[in-house]
Amino acid sequence: MIEPVSEQKRIVVTGQIAEQGISVLRDAGAVWSWDHSDPIPLEERDRRLADADAAVTLLTDRVDDAFLDAAPNLRIVANVAVGHDNIDVEACRGRDVIVTNTPGVLTDATADLAMGLLLMITRRMGEGERLVRSGVPWEWGMHMMLGTGLQGRRLGIVGMGAIGRALASRAVAFGMDIVYHNRNPVGAEVERRLEARFVPLTELLATSDVVSLNCPHTPDTHHLLDAAAFASMRSDAFVVNTARGAVIDEAALVDALDRREIAGAALDVYENEPVVHPGLLGRDDVALLPHLGSATSETRGAMAELAARNVAAVLDGRPPITAVG
Ligand code: DGY
Repeated sequence: MIEPVSEQKRIVVTGQIAEQGISVLRDAGAVWSWDHSDPIPLEERDRRLADADAAVTLLTDRVDDAFLDAAPNLRIVANVAVGHDNIDVEACRGRDVIVTNTPGVLTDATADLAMGLLLMITRRMGEGERLVRSGVPWEWGMHMMLGTGLQGRRLGIVGMGAIGRALASRAVAFGMDIVYHNRNPVGAEVERRLEARFVPLTELLATSDVVSLNCPHTPDTHHLLDAAAFASMRSDAFVVNTARGAVIDEAALVDALDRREIAGAALDVYENEPVVHPGLLGRDDVALLPHLGSATSETRGAMAELAARNVAAVLDGRPPITAVG
């Protein structure tokens, strides 16, 4: 018997996303999703992509020629992340595949986490927590685990997009002095509101007490913090990274910490995620989180929904809401 050809568009979701997104997708087409926490095996992925009109991807997927070869009918790749360095956008463009991401909805969650990491490393919270959990006897002491106060300290923000600005407004409330570096200055009105000043990257690195990375990972920002950059920083400075791991040369960071060229680092993202450079794991002058920037239930729901709305728009012949590029 010949099966009736379904008119429904086919949507492949390569990993677990919030139900909020799935329910929007169900109204847009026939949804198949990989509903496991471990990554989808490539054979399964390619089998599912063979007749897919849309793919909803996670930052752990590599969307490259091999992915696109497996999906000849694809019209959209909707990445459930604001960062999209996992996607070969040019290769997608060459095949008329639209790429979308999820800006805006994760700004506050990520800025909150960056502020948390900043506090964690300057006030030695991870180290203190490890001590309490270790069972090693301790007693309050006037000189015990002294950290660095934030009032009057300079925060240098690299990348003054939405997340950089949201971090600046939080840091101002902690009494920090804000300088930033960006491809272009953000404009007088924003600078006034955030009490922030544009400076060259060299000045930002040389003068900041805390350097926070909030820029996308691109060929231009790959290893932006390398051996030379660390050597140019203050020896009492800290680095916070909630952007992408490869903006830092992790081996150079370990060397800089070993040589005490900087005082510490607080990282949410890693160069070879989920692998963390072994030179970072055993030390107390780093705080390490497992890429939790957008990890609140509300935010992950909103990210899934925005990705799904992009798919629904494109499959319906409308322009995407948040296209990349
Ligand atoms: C993003 O959206 O790029 C974040 O890294 C996800 O947590």
